[in-house]
Amino acid sequence: MTRSGGRSRVGRGGVRPPVGTGPWLGREIELDVGPVAHGGHCVGRHDGRVLFVRHALPGERVLALVTEDGGGSYCRADAVRVLTASPDRVEPPCPHAGPGRCGGCDWQHATADAQRAGKAAVVREQLSRLAGLPDVPVVVEPLPGGLLGWRTRVRFAVDADGRTGLRRNRSHTLEPVRHCPLGTEGVAASRVGERRWPGAGEVDVVASTAGDRAILVLPSSAPRVAGTRGAAAVVEGPPVVREVAAGREWRVAAAGFWQVHPGAADALAGCVLDFLRPLPGDTALDLYAGSGLFAALLADAVGPTGRVLAVEADAAAAADARANLAGSPAAVHVRQSRVTPGLLGGLGLNPDLVVLDPPRAGAGRDVLAALVALAPRAVAYVACDPASCARDLRVALDAGWELRGLRAFDCFPMTRHVETVALLCPAS
Ligand SMILES: C[S@@+](CC[C@H](N)C(=O)[O-])C[C@H]1O[C@@H](n2cnc3c(N)ncnc32)[C@H](O)[C@@H]1O
Repeated sequence: MTRSGGRSRVGRGGVRPPVGTGPWLGREIELDVGPVAHGGHCVGRHDGRVLFVRHALPGERVLALVTEDGGGSYCRADAVRVLTASPDRVEPPCPHAGPGRCGGCDWQHATADAQRAGKAAVVREQLSRLAGLPDVPVVVEPLPGGLLGWRTRVRFAVDADGRTGLRRNRSHTLEPVRHCPLGTEGVAASRVGERRWPGAGEVDVVASTAGDRAILVLPSSAPRVAGTRGAAAVVEGPPVVREVAAGREWRVAAAGFWQVHPGAADALAGCVLDFLRPLPGDTALDLYAGSGLFAALLADAVGPTGRVLAVEADAAAAADARANLAGSPAAVHVRQSRVTPGLLGGLGLNPDLVVLDPPRAGAGRDVLAALVALAPRAVAYVACDPASCARDLRVALDAGWELRGLRAFDCFPMTRHVETVALLCPAS
């Protein structure tokens, strides 16, 4: 990767349809760029308004093209020319990156260190603003491997001619993409981008850490549900793939959830166990359990005198969790259910430890309130969205709990996304 500087044009000339009817739409504004904010952009100010500027870095002076202006207090813009470059700026290694181009990555133009520093700043800011915790030290830890070639799962969108692409930022328009450099070699070997997919809306490639490969197709007529592969059908490869983490193999439905980065499951599981410090005989609860990663490791730790209950809404994932928990030394039970305050209140269980790993929207106020009412010794909260996590933490803090630990992991290099694990305990 080469550093780039000077007065350079950013990207390779993509076209992004403007959004909104505000007065600044389409304007080019020269401005100084401030800190990274949640959402994959930096904050700038001009004439009393806030601009969320993509493709820029803190400290840069850029020419920003306003791409969205709803007429409110802020608008969105792309840095289309860098007038004073940050020393953290590099040439994006992906030919699809840049203003108006692929929306899958946010930080292709930043060094690895700068990407992680920006994400750490976002986590700190969310904890300060939404959880009322202004002084939490946050370091985003890298996972093994580099910035490219880490995605074991890639979802391509498909155009009317059956060709693959990736969506542009905040748009349904496709950037034609045959090969995503974030994908692993297994994803590339599927050659999904070199084929036509008539009638498909999306094509998913799953290239598991154990070497299994499956391709799933979501018909163009099917409703799109962000973050799920639910209605997608496996058209090639096994319906269930094997994954490797924590020194063992796991079965996971090809359409189900598993951490996308090959090092993420290990890193998060290690952190959860380190935070919770399970003891023989403990009772543990794994909420939003997926295929049972945390539940199985907790079951090993609490041993034959301990108990583990895993709760997961998706039927296929719950079935995988049962298979992955079979043979655990502890008394284990997988409950296929949504996590609700009613469910938690009616468990008739006083867990010593809880891990929860909800989807992007977080667990929510009512679930958190019901959870702290169970009075466990410690809760590990795994989150893929620092804003949802901070809002949920606030509920526990208001109930007299303390944040005793926080680690963050760069599970999604080049993108805005960051994974955090928070340790919550009742105030001593
Ligand atoms: C981020 S994944 C975590 C999975 C697992 N902990 C892992 O690390 O592999 C979130 C899981 O929550 C499940 N889920 C989503 N909403 C749910 C709800 N309301 N109640 C229970 N499970 C839910 C999803 O099916 C998914 O398996």
